[in-house]
Amino acid sequence: MPLMNVLGIETSCDETAAAVVADGRSILSSIVASQVEIHARYGGVVPEVASRQHLLTIVPVIERALTTAGVSWRDISIVAVTNGPGLAGSLLVGVNTAKSIAAVLRLPLVGVNHLEGHVYANWLVEGEPPIFPALCLIVSGGHSDLVLMSGHGQFKRLGRTRDDAAGEAFDKAARVLGVGYPGGPALEKAAQGGKASLVLPRAWLKGTDDFSFSGLKTGLFHLAQERGIKPGSPVVNDAAASFQEAVAEVLAVKTVKAAERLKVKNIVVSGGVAANKLLRRYLLEKSLVPVFIPLLSLCTDNAAMIASCGYYRFQSGRSDGLNLDVVSSLAIGSDRVMTESN
Ligand code: KG4
Ligand code: ZN
Repeated sequence: MPLMNVLGIETSCDETAAAVVADGRSILSSIVASQVEIHARYGGVVPEVASRQHLLTIVPVIERALTTAGVSWRDISIVAVTNGPGLAGSLLVGVNTAKSIAAVLRLPLVGVNHLEGHVYANWLVEGEPPIFPALCLIVSGGHSDLVLMSGHGQFKRLGRTRDDAAGEAFDKAARVLGVGYPGGPALEKAAQGGKASLVLPRAWLKGTDDFSFSGLKTGLFHLAQERGIKPGSPVVNDAAASFQEAVAEVLAVKTVKAAERLKVKNIVVSGGVAANKLLRRYLLEKSLVPVFIPLLSLCTDNAAMIASCGYYRFQSGRSDGLNLDVVSSLAIGSDRVMTESN
C-alpha cells in the first residue's frame, strides 16, 4: 500500500503551522512560524494582528513543509485543518487556505478539533502508540480536561477546569511575578532558581475529575502583595517554584487517581503545559500505567498533530468537503489573548 501523506494546517491562535505526516505516524516535515515576538510587545496575543500575520505567512509555511518533506502536491492524499476552537479570524485563514488547496487538487478535506489534535501528538512517536482505553490529560492555554479515549475519535469528557485553564494560570502567574512572556516557559525558568517553600492553596475538588486554579492564582496574588514580591525581587523564584509545584501536583495526582479508578491502559498527556518538566516528572513517577507525553516541540501548537488526527478521522470515514465551517471561541488562553477586559 502506498503511504498516505496528509498535509496538516494549524492557525488557531498565534502559530502558523504546516506539516506533512505519512500514515498518521511519521513526520516528514513540521514547520511552525511563531508570532511570539510580535505579540510579546503587547503582553498577549492580539487577535487582529494574529490573523493578518497568518495571512502573510501561511503560503510560505506550506511551501516549506512540502519542500522539507521532499514531496510534491501530487504526493498529498488528504488536507487536514484545525477548524476550532480558536480565534475566528486566525482559524479562517487556515480553513480558507485548506479549502482552496482541496478544491484545486480535488482532495478530501478533514476538519480537526484543536484539542483532539493535541492528543494525537502522542501518535507521532517511534515504537508502539498508546492503546485504548486511555485517559487523556489535555492541558493548554484554554483547557484543562480529563478525557476518556476509548478508540480513535471516541472521546468522553470526564472533567474540566471550572475557571482558569492550567496554561492560563501559568500565564497569569507569570504576569503577577513579572517573569516574562510567554508565561509558561518563563515561569518554569524562574522556578528553576527557587525553592517551593511558600504555602499556596490547592483545589482538589474531591469526588470529581474537575480542576480549579483560580484560588491558587488569587493566593499567589495576595502573597505577592503581602510579601512585596515585585518583579526582580529575590523571592520571585521561590514563588514561581511554589506555584509550579501546586499546579503540577494537582494535575498529576488527580490524573493518576482517575486512571486507577477507570483501569485505563495508558495515560496520554498533551497541550502546551505538557512541556512543563515538573508535571512530566510527577506523572511518570506516580503512574502505575505507561504515560505518553509528546516531545517538547510537539506539546505546543503544531500542524503535525493536526495531520495525524486528520488521518485517523479520515480512516474512520470522516471527510468534510468544502462546506467546512469554523468553530470559534476564546477557548484559547483567555489571558494570553488580549481582549477589552484585559
Ligand atoms: O497548547 P498551546 O500551545 O496553545 C493552546 O492551544 O492554548 O498551549 C499554550 C499554553 C500557554 O498558556 C503556555 O503558557 C503554556 O501552554 N506552556 C507552559 C509551558 N510551555 C507552554 N506551561 C507551563 N510550562 C511550560 N514549559
Ligand atoms: Zn493548542
